[in-house]
Amino acid sequence: MPEVLRFDAYMDEALYGAGGFYERGGHPGARDGDFATSVELGSLFARCVASYLDRTWIEMGRPDPFVVIEGGAGRGTLCRDVLEAVDGCRDAVRYVMVERTESQRQAALGIAGEAAALADLPAGPLVGVVVANELLDNLPIRLLERAPAGWDEVHVEVGPQHTTQVRQPAPDDASAMATALAPDAPVGSRIPLQLRASVWVRRALRLLEAGRVLIFDYGMRTTASLAQRPQDEWLRTYRSQRRADDPLDSPGTADITCEVAFDQLPSGAKMSPQADWLAAHGIESMTADARALWERSRANPTAETLAARALLDEAAALVDPRSFGAFWVAEWRVG
Ligand SMILES: C[S@@+](CC[C@H](N)C(=O)[O-])C[C@H]1O[C@@H](n2cnc3c(N)ncnc32)[C@H](O)[C@@H]1O
Repeated sequence: MPEVLRFDAYMDEALYGAGGFYERGGHPGARDGDFATSVELGSLFARCVASYLDRTWIEMGRPDPFVVIEGGAGRGTLCRDVLEAVDGCRDAVRYVMVERTESQRQAALGIAGEAAALADLPAGPLVGVVVANELLDNLPIRLLERAPAGWDEVHVEVGPQHTTQVRQPAPDDASAMATALAPDAPVGSRIPLQLRASVWVRRALRLLEAGRVLIFDYGMRTTASLAQRPQDEWLRTYRSQRRADDPLDSPGTADITCEVAFDQLPSGAKMSPQADWLAAHGIESMTADARALWERSRANPTAETLAARALLDEAAALVDPRSFGAFWVAEWRVG
């Protein structure tokens, strides 16, 4: 008998189940991984996050301990690079990596051993910052399609040879949410319901007695704007640095990721494009020496000049408005 799963259950299994993408060793990485992230391009992104942590620690009155919780920490790259770069808050920081996938958690402890690693968010109350880069896009979504009367919900029939889509009338609560989020969605258009992402941010906010939640991810301000675009633009798969096939093909062999609809997250966040956020946290001054060195000696490059060029290329990618620079940074303040 084929099994019929709601799309979020299918996505959960395809990513995190026994034969899922992450359980089979899929991971981020600029060269050796399946997809690049800001964290894996180099250490500049981490240095900006460290500058934010130093500034926030001072704004909050220098709390000690100052807990930094990183959701979806992957292989620990951001943790390692942030701990190397923090300055003022160095002695107060207690860094906790939260990573669902066991093998990544072990890899993370291998490179960032002074931090702790947990499979899920800890209990509060805590004082500090919860940060996550490209976590929410990886949390399973429900998938709804506008029908002539109301909404259908996408399920997946998993057979021994093929997986196929099955549409069923959406339950009333999901239909009401979809109508509120995308009232003018044309018949046949689709939207994601990102309840797990919303719950994750709510839990992060609730565990803080005082502090900030800082989310970096790609996506759109509104669900309604996703409804105007074809599903394969915002629900994507990646394998070995390339866009892969339909999420229903070869489950477990590719990452499945959905652009974040930020209007589905708790309200009250300050939103900035990543390029602006990095500029506000020092990326220009961090690359000023490299820029000067490159301009001075580009005609006769040495190893040092080439390292300067690499740093400038990394900065350019992080602020590129057609790429990482267009990601959103959402910051919530508690207390
Ligand atoms: C796209 S990767 C990003 C990794 C890293 N933050 C980076 O930027 O390179 C998403 C990570 O989140 C992890 N993850 C997924 N759901 C999670 C959850 N509920 N709690 C913690 N980690 C989770 C996955 O196992 C994966 O390692």
